[in-house]
Amino acid sequence: MPHYTILIVDDEAAQREVLAGFLKKKGYSVRASETGEKALHVLRNETVDLVLSDMRMPEMDGAELLRRIKSLNPQIDVIVMTAFGSIETATETMKNGATDFITKPVDLQQLELTVQKILTKKQLILENERLRELLNDRFSFDGIISNSGAMAEALSVAGRVAPSKATVLITGESGTGKELIAKAIHMSSPRADKPFIAVNMAALSENLVESELFGHEKGAFTGAHQQRKGRFELADSGSLFIDEVGDIPAGTQVKLLRVLQEQQIERIGSSQAIPIDVRVIAATNRPLEKMVEDGTFRQDLYYRLNVVKITLPPLRDRKTDIPLLTDFFIRKYAKLNEKTITGFSREAMDRLFKHDFPGNVRELENIVEQAVVLARDDIITVAELPVTLTGQHDSPESGISGRTFADKVEIFEKKLIYDALEAAGGVQTKAAELLGMSERHLRYKLQKYGKNKEKNL
Ligand SMILES: Nc1ncnc2c1ncn2[C@@H]1O[C@H](COP(=O)(O)OP(=O)(O)OP(=O)(O)O)[C@@H](O)[C@H]1O
Ligand SMILES: [Mg+2]
Repeated sequence: MPHYTILIVDDEAAQREVLAGFLKKKGYSVRASETGEKALHVLRNETVDLVLSDMRMPEMDGAELLRRIKSLNPQIDVIVMTAFGSIETATETMKNGATDFITKPVDLQQLELTVQKILTKKQLILENERLRELLNDRFSFDGIISNSGAMAEALSVAGRVAPSKATVLITGESGTGKELIAKAIHMSSPRADKPFIAVNMAALSENLVESELFGHEKGAFTGAHQQRKGRFELADSGSLFIDEVGDIPAGTQVKLLRVLQEQQIERIGSSQAIPIDVRVIAATNRPLEKMVEDGTFRQDLYYRLNVVKITLPPLRDRKTDIPLLTDFFIRKYAKLNEKTITGFSREAMDRLFKHDFPGNVRELENIVEQAVVLARDDIITVAELPVTLTGQHDSPESGISGRTFADKVEIFEKKLIYDALEAAGGVQTKAAELLGMSERHLRYKLQKYGKNKEKNL
């Protein structure tokens, strides 16, 4: 935490001294004023992060001071001290912009907690603002978040190759954003308003691959009841994204090569050549060079695809992207779930940094989505992270000492659910099965954790 300055405003000297002594001991810089006028003078001339102001003071009272502070600088947080029992005054001051209030006589422990909470939040908001500024500077491919040097190189190549018709080969581990880049290239090309068609070679059985790619005539094989256009034809004048191109069967490789060279296709069962104008973007997480050496991937096809190569680095090699991506996904899923989430706690962010992310950005996105769903406060803590990241159940934030039994059970339950969701890749039906509970029950639990904000674990 950076160093914070707190300004105490109270007409009683004894009260000022007690509060100042206590806050100094807690490591804060402290200023004290006995009147509102003097406090405003300090605020105009020094940096103050938080004001702790008495309500009842001669000359300018707390309400008036609050109003003047807010018009001076709305960013300054104000805690108002009110007489015990005057709850109306308290609500009134909150309405007028006080961040919080505490009752007199001041309980120092409570004061410390309140101060800490406000300053932590301030810190997060500041960090998020900084991130947002960074985001605005980032490469202009919409929705691709990065500020790391490693990604900058990849994005720069993508940006330069986009306007051409050159074939692009995107390589990178699973979840590094290959499809996202492919779409971005298409969207930044003159073909942007033409179709972007994707086909996944790993998802197709061998006997379907060719009819998927090139289409077929009616009666071309058993089951071909209708004439059907293939993906190449569908992508005509646009882009075709061939995903997992390393999985393309040997027999199809040669046909694909011919299509790429001649820019025309023949539907299965027809010998009529149909000219096509398609920009091909291929992706793979398999080592194609090695497959060429082994003889499982045709060298000529490899060269034909690999006109321009973009290699996406794994997330573990660009950890500076983690806070940016986290912020981006928080905003995405907070909006989707209609929640207000300010950010990750320092410790939770720390855990993200220590993690290896074998599933890369997709894994991070899943983690953030589930944390947002599970979060009961506007800051995500380690309690909402899967055990794979936290290792233990006994970190300070999710600590189990000093809690009721029900709370402990709940923490444990939450972890179980979270881990099951992770193991199931976010698919609720599968997670429920793993947990041995009905999907309805799981949904109820998720909703409960999402909505029950009062009981802050
Ligand atoms: N730099 C990024 N900024 C924002 N979102 C990203 C980024 N990289 C990846 N993502 C998101 O992560 C998820 C996975 O990305 P994508 O599907 O493009 O990965 P992939 O490399 O194609 O993975 P696979 O090899 O498993 O198919 C998507 O939801 C994508 O939007
Ligand atoms: Mg993909």
